[in-house]
Amino acid sequence: MLCTWRTSDLRLLLTLIVFLVVASVNGSSTDKRQRKLELPAEVNTSLSVPVDTKAVFDCPPIPLTSVVVTTWQIILRDKLSCTRAYRRDRNETKEGNCTDERIIWASRPDENLALQIDPVATTHDGFYMCQMVTPDGNFHRGYHLQVLGKEEHILWYFRPDLA
Ligand SMILES: *[C@@H]1O[C@H](CO)[C@@H](O)[C@H](O)[C@H]1NC(C)=O
Ligand SMILES: *[C@@H]1O[C@H](CO)[C@@H](O)[C@H](O)[C@H]1NC(C)=O
Ligand SMILES: *[C@@H]1O[C@H](CO)[C@@H](O)[C@H](O)[C@H]1NC(C)=O
Repeated sequence: MLCTWRTSDLRLLLTLIVFLVVASVNGSSTDKRQRKLELPAEVNTSLSVPVDTKAVFDCPPIPLTSVVVTTWQIILRDKLSCTRAYRRDRNETKEGNCTDERIIWASRPDENLALQIDPVATTHDGFYMCQMVTPDGNFHRGYHLQVLGKEEHILWYFRPDLA
């Protein structure tokens, strides 16, 4: 019971709580600084996505307030197919040759810069790259997308050794 606690116990407990709070605040700010410094300028990922599903691609994990311009470049089967860009200072989106209505911003670009394909078709095989221009340099995140056809999709589910 609390009334049986000695003052020195309480003081020890308080010191411990203050120490833990200070440690967690310091820890999180150090993490944030390190993440910014250690973020590689360019990362590519290979993805296999079943046909007829929805795919969402994220940009580099940079705070939106430090990004000046974000550009998605979509290269289907080795030819530049389309670009989508967002300029933060003007809160303005621009697009070049994007005629495929299935490839769009996943959300409002002033809140989230991810790109989505919904639904994925076999013609969407290709390379999708988010480029972010920031005062600290440019950062790229690329995705090599391979769309799995219906047969491969079924094969996957019937082969538990692959799971
Ligand atoms: C990422 O992929 C693109 C397109 O294939 C290539 O031009 C670029 O060099 C790759 N970057 C890295 C870091 O692998
Ligand atoms: C950006 O523009 C959209 C629509 O044009 C608007 O809904 C949104 O509030 C704007 N965001 C900012 C941060 O100004
Ligand atoms: C749009 O396509 C045309 C012709 O294929 C090309 O010349 C032009 O550079 C493309 N524009 C963009 C912004 O991708």
